[in-house]
Amino acid sequence: MPPEYPKYTERRVAEILRVDPVHPDTAIIERAAACLRSGGLVAFPTETVYGLGADATNTDAVRRVFAAKGRPSTDPLIVHVPDLDSVRPLVSHLTDSAVTVARALWPGPLTLVLPRSGLIGTEVTAGLETVAVRVPAHPVARALVIAARVPIAAPSANLFSRPSPTRAEHVADDLGDAIDLIVDAGATLVGLESTVLDLTSDPPRVLRPGGVSLERLRELLPNVVLRDVQASPTDAMRSPGMLSKHYAPRTPLTLFEGNTQGVLDRIAAEVGVAIERGERVALLGTHEMLARAKQAIGASPAITFLEIGSDSSAAGIASRLYASLRDCDAAGVDRVLALQVADDRGIALAVRDRLRRASAGDIVRC
Ligand code: TXA
Ligand code: MG
Repeated sequence: MPPEYPKYTERRVAEILRVDPVHPDTAIIERAAACLRSGGLVAFPTETVYGLGADATNTDAVRRVFAAKGRPSTDPLIVHVPDLDSVRPLVSHLTDSAVTVARALWPGPLTLVLPRSGLIGTEVTAGLETVAVRVPAHPVARALVIAARVPIAAPSANLFSRPSPTRAEHVADDLGDAIDLIVDAGATLVGLESTVLDLTSDPPRVLRPGGVSLERLRELLPNVVLRDVQASPTDAMRSPGMLSKHYAPRTPLTLFEGNTQGVLDRIAAEVGVAIERGERVALLGTHEMLARAKQAIGASPAITFLEIGSDSSAAGIASRLYASLRDCDAAGVDRVLALQVADDRGIALAVRDRLRRASAGDIVRC
């Protein structure tokens, strides 16, 4: 009789490889690249958020990306490459405006939607005739896309509809049992995803505000417009991933927008009602807004204050926002009341957009 071995359910646990964020170890990058080439799933840092990479030309690997994230197959992936020349085989043609913005802003947090060639399969593009491409700037992502020698399809490395990961720990929490490797280079810099610019429409349209500001794009393409999901359902169709519930904590989050005094009065009233019901609430906002809220409401053990940075630095807020949204769940509260950031210029536009999505449309205008 052969010995009886205990039966294990097959459970993959991702190996975590630490690298220096500026000078990553070549041997580790080579290992990650080999894993990608053999059909593996590798999470890696970009300057925006961690991505979950797969060989974009390997249909099975791409399907596993969707399965690992629990992402609907109707939501297309971004393909990451080392430079503009590597984009050429992936697209049917490159317009002058594509070359202009690419030369000015790549490598960087900008994704271009272009007409696709036959090289990229319909799994990656969710059946669309366009492909989203990006040249990342993070030294680890750059080293990996060069070493891989294949284009890398990579969505953000979070479970579907959870906040995107800005640290390797977030990736491990969401996907540690579903992927092969995590390349850990510490926190990402920008903290929010790339700007998605659709160059197949006239005028060109920003489908998702992100790391490159609308103001910067206007310097290069004066007629660029910002897509409005609420105003145009067809716009929502053009980029199916832009669902309104996205990047959300598990705890219900209500967003309060409007003038500062109106927001503070309304929040004070809501907190009062919640405490009377015996609920615990978290207030999420900037240092300045939370200081005013504390004055207006007073302290109570039922209230947790979650600071997302200072009104004086939208970049600081962007870099911390997703970790703060994950903290909402760790805080063990029944509800999160979020105070909208005041600014909407530069990266603050993307911060406002992500807070709106985190609320899944539960927005109170004061
Ligand atoms: O910063 C980023 O963009 C990160 C890092 C990893 O590069 N990636 C990222 O990927 O945020 P993901 O999959 O979470 O978001 C990609 C967005 C989705 O909203 C998707 O709908 C849109 O880009 N997208 C992808 N391909 C598209 C296409 N062909 N047409 C329109 N939108 C597209
Ligand atoms: Mg995502």
